[in-house]
Amino acid sequence: MRLNSEAVNYIVDPKELGRPLDLAAIFGREAPLEVEIGFGYGHFLVRKAKEAPERNFLGFELSSKCIRKTISKIEKAGIANVRLVRMDARLGFYFLPERSVSVTYMNFPDPWPKKKHKKRRLLDGEFLELLASRTVDGGEFYFVTDHDEYLEYALELFRESPYWKWEGEEFTLEMPDYFDTKYRRKWERMGKRIYFLRRIKAVHPVGIRELVEEVKEMPHVVLEREGIDVKRLGELVGPEIRFDGGVIRYFDVFENQKGDRILLETLVSEGGISQRFFILVELSGGEVTVKLARRAEVAVTTGVKRAIKLVAEKLGGKILRTNIGN
Ligand SMILES: C[S@@+](CC[C@H](N)C(=O)[O-])C[C@H]1O[C@@H](n2cnc3c(N)ncnc32)[C@H](O)[C@@H]1O
Repeated sequence: MRLNSEAVNYIVDPKELGRPLDLAAIFGREAPLEVEIGFGYGHFLVRKAKEAPERNFLGFELSSKCIRKTISKIEKAGIANVRLVRMDARLGFYFLPERSVSVTYMNFPDPWPKKKHKKRRLLDGEFLELLASRTVDGGEFYFVTDHDEYLEYALELFRESPYWKWEGEEFTLEMPDYFDTKYRRKWERMGKRIYFLRRIKAVHPVGIRELVEEVKEMPHVVLEREGIDVKRLGELVGPEIRFDGGVIRYFDVFENQKGDRILLETLVSEGGISQRFFILVELSGGEVTVKLARRAEVAVTTGVKRAIKLVAEKLGGKILRTNIGN
């Protein structure tokens, strides 16, 4: 994606900044925070931010095209209170400090109607717990869908979640002052019904499992070169390797001509999040270092650390230094 230098200011990469995000530094001020999940072309986010200059707005979106479209809207609007994150919102919320979000909006999430795709839905019990932990006490969550089955699914999740309550009706077909989105316009033109859910944080979750680690130093293992065998790395490729909380899979091993840099293409899936990245094995002098190939490529989680450690164990050899515990 090509961006002009002005646009870069609107984009935040939590993987580079670490957890918990320093929101005052990101926005250059302290103010109540509103978050939109999957902001699409940014109609809603930009309009909200324009209407409330005294608030900070953060958007999570997976699509680069959506980010580009939204940045041009932000520039046209001439506003400075919006930041965008290109990341799965489930991962993104782990980076936010506890009790830091006043309001979250989720408008027309992809419904994934097929049974085998349902697990791709962002909304589930675990996400509602995470969202509650990042929301201020009494903060709000707005969920909007046109999809009958997703509505039923969401209602059931909220009924079961101890962290969220509602006032009045469980859902409504109108919500005064709720702004437009591209999908809202489309569905209304097609005569579809739109369901609005408003939830209020009732209980603060305690002891939630923090998937993303607070990283001061990148995870690594340094081995003694004597006794290691790089050929063994090939044995890691293929099968799913289960660990408590997730699965690791190594897809391929790439070696440079000199044979002193080896890359392992790795996938780690845990807590509903999948990250694909490269682990680097570097042979230098009498030492071999195993670490992430590129710093900003991946959020450091329990599973990512596990994947690095497994590579080191496969190589064999004596561990000289590591910052990865058991
Ligand atoms: C159906 S569109 C709705 C867009 C917008 N909210 C609207 O109403 O016009 C769903 C959007 O959510 C984004 N999305 C899907 N899963 C996501 C996730 N896990 N985290 C962040 N964004 C996501 C998609 O890229 C897409 O732009």
